[in-house]
Amino acid sequence: AIITVLNGPNLNLLGVREPGIYGKQTLSDIHEKLDRLASELGHELDFMQSNAEHELIDHIHQAYQRRVDFILINPAAFTHTSVAIRDALLATKIAFIEVHLSNVHAREPFRSHSYFSDIAVGVICGLGAHGYELALQAAHQILLTRTQ
Ligand code: DQA
Repeated sequence: AIITVLNGPNLNLLGVREPGIYGKQTLSDIHEKLDRLASELGHELDFMQSNAEHELIDHIHQAYQRRVDFILINPAAFTHTSVAIRDALLATKIAFIEVHLSNVHAREPFRSHSYFSDIAVGVICGLGAHGYELALQAAHQILLTRTQ
């Protein structure tokens, strides 16, 4: 299956950015691990990061055109603000898992609200970079049951 991984603003700074909250792994460390896991599981992985809301939206539209089967998304700060990215996911009806490195519920109150959680298949937060791998494994299981 084709799985797209989308990363929102400031995640390009992982490893440098508040390592006490987000960990020491860089986004390319995460990308490498996911690539390896995806090929072990027999999936094609497409990975992107953008600081721009419209680029994330365009990528979701492209995912629809390319018949992407599943999306893993860390919308980063757009989690708490973006009706537009939510609407792109609703429009394309591509199933997705929402991922956050930090436990958003243990931080500032504004991080507890997400524009994505109620329409996500599931949400992973607080498990650091490992959360992305867990999300990929979950997506794999979901896609297996879908084709049975
Ligand atoms: C984040 C949590 C968001 O609140 C924050 O704006 C981010 C990263 C996370 O992965 O923990 O940029 O999505």
